[in-house]
Amino acid sequence: MVSSECEPFAKTGGLADVVDALSRALGELGHEVDVYLPRYRGVEPPGPAERRLISLPAPGPGGTGEIVELLTARADGYRLRLVDHPHSYDRAGFYGEGGSDYPDNGARFALLGRAALEAIRSEGGGVAVLHGHDWQAGPALLLRDHRFATDPRLAGTATMLTCHNLAYHGWVPRERAAALDLPAAVGKADGVDLLREAVAGADMVNTVSPTYAEESRTPEYGAGLDDVLSDRGDRYLGILNGIDPRLWDPATDEALPRRYSAADPAGKAACRADLAARLGIDTSAADDGWGDRGAPIFGMVGRLDPQKGFDLLNGAAEAMLAGGARMVVLGTGDERLVRGLREIAGRWPGRVAILERFDRDEARRIYAGSDLLLMPSRFEPCGQSQMIAMRYGTIPLVRRTGGLADTVVDADAHPADGDGFVFAPAEPGALAGAAERAIAAYRDAGRWGAIIRRAMARDFSWTASAPRYVEAYERALAIRASRRASQPGT
Ligand code: GLC
Repeated sequence: MVSSECEPFAKTGGLADVVDALSRALGELGHEVDVYLPRYRGVEPPGPAERRLISLPAPGPGGTGEIVELLTARADGYRLRLVDHPHSYDRAGFYGEGGSDYPDNGARFALLGRAALEAIRSEGGGVAVLHGHDWQAGPALLLRDHRFATDPRLAGTATMLTCHNLAYHGWVPRERAAALDLPAAVGKADGVDLLREAVAGADMVNTVSPTYAEESRTPEYGAGLDDVLSDRGDRYLGILNGIDPRLWDPATDEALPRRYSAADPAGKAACRADLAARLGIDTSAADDGWGDRGAPIFGMVGRLDPQKGFDLLNGAAEAMLAGGARMVVLGTGDERLVRGLREIAGRWPGRVAILERFDRDEARRIYAGSDLLLMPSRFEPCGQSQMIAMRYGTIPLVRRTGGLADTVVDADAHPADGDGFVFAPAEPGALAGAAERAIAAYRDAGRWGAIIRRAMARDFSWTASAPRYVEAYERALAIRASRRASQPGT
């Protein structure tokens, strides 16, 4: 695996969880997985590390060679290989600072790929599949087919790309493209779109849910890549992400003030009371007539990014609060998106809490202590908060898109097996309407309990999806073998 994030070492979003959990799930199926990750500031190997210096040849004329240190250590279920190069990675952010990307990101992530390939080659090859995640792994996959195309130690190595986010392409302008170590013919005259090139070139490509695989073939969702994704035909798949049920388990979660399970759910009410008390949320305002259970708390956890539908929430929040909703939002990101929410919070004292930070433990307490989890995403390749929420007995309210459409069943449309609330148009009114339906269901304690039981019974482990990756790897290997047969010498 080549990735810019891997939990618990470096995380800004779901990519990190997936790379970690998928690698472990593949390990459990008997595969050996190495994860190559930049050694960002503060990242330490999980145990005693073997250190090795790797010298990277200069990328093209005018470039300079580099020495990187590779730190290899056992993580839980796989080998973690940290690429240490302080000039590239010892910085305040992973991708940028103060809202702007580092201008040398192309070179930084090309270095990750160059280091991974040099390590594989110098250790005698033997890697069956080079599996890259998002544009940051583009250079690794592309280098395998350019600079390393004729290296006998990589001759059998197939490539696979997983697209977790098509919104970020990794555009490298021509004047910086020399650092990529790719032939000048790769890309367009003005630069290289790393994600586009990797989508076009990898033996197999996937995204993280079946619905998003279909949506992304259309101009509305393809983020400018719908043509090249469509061109890949059946070599572009949707494989639904899982979550690691051991990492996300309210019965063992040490961040919670009280643990609980489907069989013994009482602790959830304690988690909820704790959350409300700590964040100053009043769930029992007398004028509401909520009785003992109090008003419903809607939680929202994640990157404050337009993708996540924060603008829809801003438009719908007043109506939701007027209908009795309480809200807890945890996340970091786009300052403009929180400003509107903060103003609304000011008008509804005791009903809205906004926590602008990244806080793993508080996220867990919100998953446990909320009644509903909001995910009004404009697009969502998979999403995992909705799956985590269900495991914690918290009912997802989602927009019907991507992986949300594949994981949440509307409880009004499907009374017998619904486990959430779903709306379709990307409009504040549609979100507010679904919230109204959810609040009506919440008022009926018997019905609500049944919805919670169904949500908690869902199985989102990797058991189903990890074997689908193995099948995709096998296809990638077969495709690679036939490429070799038709192009002797490569
Ligand atoms: C990205 C996507 C999200 C997906 C995650 C892991 O963060 O936006 O939908 O769940 O990657 O694949």
